[in-house]
Amino acid sequence: MTRHFKISVLPGDGIGPEVVRQVHRITDWLAGSRGLEFEIKEGLVGGASIDRHGVPLTDETLADAMAADAVLLGAVGGPKWDAVDFAVRPEAGLLRLRKEMGLFANLRPALVFPSLADASPLKRDIVEGLDIMIVRELTGGVYFGEPRGIETLPDGQRRGVNTQVYTTSEIRRVAAVAFDLARRRQKRVCSVDKANVMESGRLWREEVTALRNESFEDIELSHMYADNCAMQLIRNPKQFDVIVTDNLFGDMLSDEAAMLTGSLGMLPSASLGAVDEKGKRKALYEPVHGSAPDIAGKELANPIATLLSFAMMLRYSFDEGETAGLIEAAIQKVLAGGIRTTDIMAKGMARVSTGVMGDSILRELGKLSR
Ligand code: IPM
Ligand code: MG
Repeated sequence: MTRHFKISVLPGDGIGPEVVRQVHRITDWLAGSRGLEFEIKEGLVGGASIDRHGVPLTDETLADAMAADAVLLGAVGGPKWDAVDFAVRPEAGLLRLRKEMGLFANLRPALVFPSLADASPLKRDIVEGLDIMIVRELTGGVYFGEPRGIETLPDGQRRGVNTQVYTTSEIRRVAAVAFDLARRRQKRVCSVDKANVMESGRLWREEVTALRNESFEDIELSHMYADNCAMQLIRNPKQFDVIVTDNLFGDMLSDEAAMLTGSLGMLPSASLGAVDEKGKRKALYEPVHGSAPDIAGKELANPIATLLSFAMMLRYSFDEGETAGLIEAAIQKVLAGGIRTTDIMAKGMARVSTGVMGDSILRELGKLSR
């Protein structure tokens, strides 16, 4: 039986289009060999949309994203749009997508592939076998809090304001996602905040603890201050199973965790909304890395984070865990075979372009599914 999925693809800026192109090759392959049919509608987001429409996300593109079974996004931003009005900067398109689609839970798994343990700036024994899941709150906190803005004071000084704010339900729904994920892992959640400084952090800690005691007694919950967590991620990252934290701390800690795996070019992400009456969640999948304008258009980018994001789409949105596993295994094989893009290059390995990395993964997929 053929299964049919509607995907909205938003390649965005910089290396976005290059890395997303490799996903199209995989969807073509899956259509031909696994009976999965993808109806793909491409749209513009970020700077690419500003250039065409004057805004980083049009209502039409947002409507397409809302109507799709899942969204795949490349990356947004770049120095080309440094001068545009802050309200319509490229990043605002991505933030609007997250907010309007209600994607409050951002899953960022940091997994060290055995063959890449030496690509990490840390010693092999610190990162080998690492498997952490960072759950970042994505539609609240200081990213969206009001009041916000820049004002000029009577004395001529200027004052910039952003507001860190969380409500009970915002904290509990993201914590519930973290506890659920932990149930299928090592059953340990570390909640990260700055409860020693911020009231919103105190509330965060209290609500996460209360939810654990009410509904997730089988999960071991610990708490850590965000600054300590930043340090512990380098000192002993394998102590963590699932980390749950707010929007801003999650942004920073996930970039840090990405480097443990060797490169930002390796880290995928899934952003999930609430379960609707049909049992489905809105979802957007994107690599954690940015648009990397310095290498854009040169076929130097690593497509693996985007391909792994697509694998997450198969697993979380389409219940195709086996197919997702196949893609992950193919990537594993290619890396074990010594094929590397520039960002993960090491002595004695073969340095390849974005497209050749895609070729190699497709070839392994073919072999694995024979
Ligand atoms: C991320 C990015 C975004 C964020 C930017 C592009 C707005 O850094 O997804 O981590 O800060 O959330
Ligand atoms: Mg970030």
